[in-house]
Amino acid sequence: MKEKRLITSALTYVNNIPHVGHIVGCHLPADIFARYCRSFGYDTTFVGGSDMHGTPSLVTAQEVGLPVEELTEKLHQIHKQIYEKLEISYDIYSNTHTDIHKEVTTDFFLTLNKNGYISQGETDVYYCDHCNMFLPDRYVVGTCPKCGYEAANGDQCEKCDSLLSSGELVNAKCKTCGRPATLKRTKHIFLRLDKGTEMLDKYIESKKDVWRPHVYAEAKKWVQEGLKERCISRDNKWGFPIPLEGFENKVFYVWFDAPIGYISITKELDEQKYIDLWCKKDAKIYNFVGKDNIQFHTVFFPTMLLENGEYNLAHNVVGLNFLNFEGQKFSKSKKIGVFCNSLIDGSKQIDIDTLRAYLATIIPENRDTDFKWEDYKNNCNSELVGKFGNLFNRSLNMVKSYFGGTLDLPLPSENELNDLDKEVLQAIKEYPQKISDAFERAELREAYKLVMSYATVGNGYVEKSAPWALMKQEKTAEAQKVLRLALNLCASLCIVASPFIPQKTKTLWQDQLGLSGDPTSNNFWENASKLNIPTPHTIGTPQPIFERFDDIKLKELRDFMSTPFDIKEFFKK
Ligand code: MF3
Ligand code: ZN
Repeated sequence: MKEKRLITSALTYVNNIPHVGHIVGCHLPADIFARYCRSFGYDTTFVGGSDMHGTPSLVTAQEVGLPVEELTEKLHQIHKQIYEKLEISYDIYSNTHTDIHKEVTTDFFLTLNKNGYISQGETDVYYCDHCNMFLPDRYVVGTCPKCGYEAANGDQCEKCDSLLSSGELVNAKCKTCGRPATLKRTKHIFLRLDKGTEMLDKYIESKKDVWRPHVYAEAKKWVQEGLKERCISRDNKWGFPIPLEGFENKVFYVWFDAPIGYISITKELDEQKYIDLWCKKDAKIYNFVGKDNIQFHTVFFPTMLLENGEYNLAHNVVGLNFLNFEGQKFSKSKKIGVFCNSLIDGSKQIDIDTLRAYLATIIPENRDTDFKWEDYKNNCNSELVGKFGNLFNRSLNMVKSYFGGTLDLPLPSENELNDLDKEVLQAIKEYPQKISDAFERAELREAYKLVMSYATVGNGYVEKSAPWALMKQEKTAEAQKVLRLALNLCASLCIVASPFIPQKTKTLWQDQLGLSGDPTSNNFWENASKLNIPTPHTIGTPQPIFERFDDIKLKELRDFMSTPFDIKEFFKK
């Protein structure tokens, strides 16, 4: 067995329904990577879940008028359905409001405390005299002291991603009533990030050549600014109680318990996997996270882990950037975006692989990217239909019409191969390797590009070898050789494309190429460089696998998917 890998996708807040930015910013890249790892033969585990606690869901529950337990549970179920629909192949999709998570979090904290990394003290916390409550995190809004953005939250500025502590905002106001917030001194507990700085810096340095440059640079920047202790208790009722005398009425800060969710969810899935992946050092952990989560995964959580001392740290933090929409920021109020409630609406069938394939081309790996409907159409028509689908369709159709669907001549021997044949055999040897190299670097867009250029190699081969001309000249054996090699390339292509388009590749493999097995299953990758078409072989029924978009169909889809999800309306029903 090759190495053990744990893939995680950031645990999503359940204060809303995801939009395409959330999908492309972690769930989908994590899934594509996990599918590749399984296929390549790594002992792969892929976990995800809903981040239930904290003020994001509390504030929403208040707006919607539902108890927060009920709101989060309902939204958790909807999130789960959406990810299933998108074929995100989680081995488990759980959440952070479970008994096991409470136990793991409590133990984690007690170990930190025992190790001397927790301190107690007084701090100034925002308070609203009108609403009569403390204002943690998203209950307060004000100007960021670092970048001047005017709508920063209490714990993080959305604009510059700085982590903020209570008291740091300028002109802090209560988000509920808009009145100025005052500061009140209360007792809290703190995580001594400062005491872990040296260990953390060593860890970050050891990742210099593994993490993407922007992830490494961001981590380094925060460490150089100097880490301070950070308050990890909150005055609200939603979350796990702090197991310390005098703090029973406070709960953990959401960003304290959430990342521990990766550990507890693995444990919930399987006790042995938990031991293998978290407690032994040889497993490789990959965290896929959105831009605003990078600091938490490269600084805050690793320090927690280092100070706790019992667990494995991430090998790679695959930090992504933001997705814009037709050049603008996603905005529900302005109806700018592509919203995933449409996927489970049921009134319209959406082709998932067409969506996944387009999204794969705009994964914001190194910079922010842009979702454009026109590009969606072009990717479908010229890449999926024109290159990928066309190769399968024309090759299979010729096998059907020239040979009644059956290839019965044995594999050509070396001396029957011309230069074009040799090139195609070389491509079958090399492309899967090149593609897996890109995957190993977590460069998914590059892997996708290579898959498409592999299809182009196939098309070029068919074009130049022109089996139709060979048939005219009655060189049928020669024509069959070409089609056999083309189908061999198609089979290989199915395997390497399967992390991106799992539904289509399975259909092509089984129903059209007429092969046995499942190209999306574990350990299948090694077949990608083999010649999978046996002799004799009868294919299935050729059929176009992707459907072309015209402008009318595109507009329909666009209108359908651009309707924002109105959470208040939804819960009125
Ligand atoms: N819920 C956070 C967000 O949506 C991400 C939490 S990731 C985890 O931004 F590490 F805490 F799990
Ligand atoms: Zn108020």
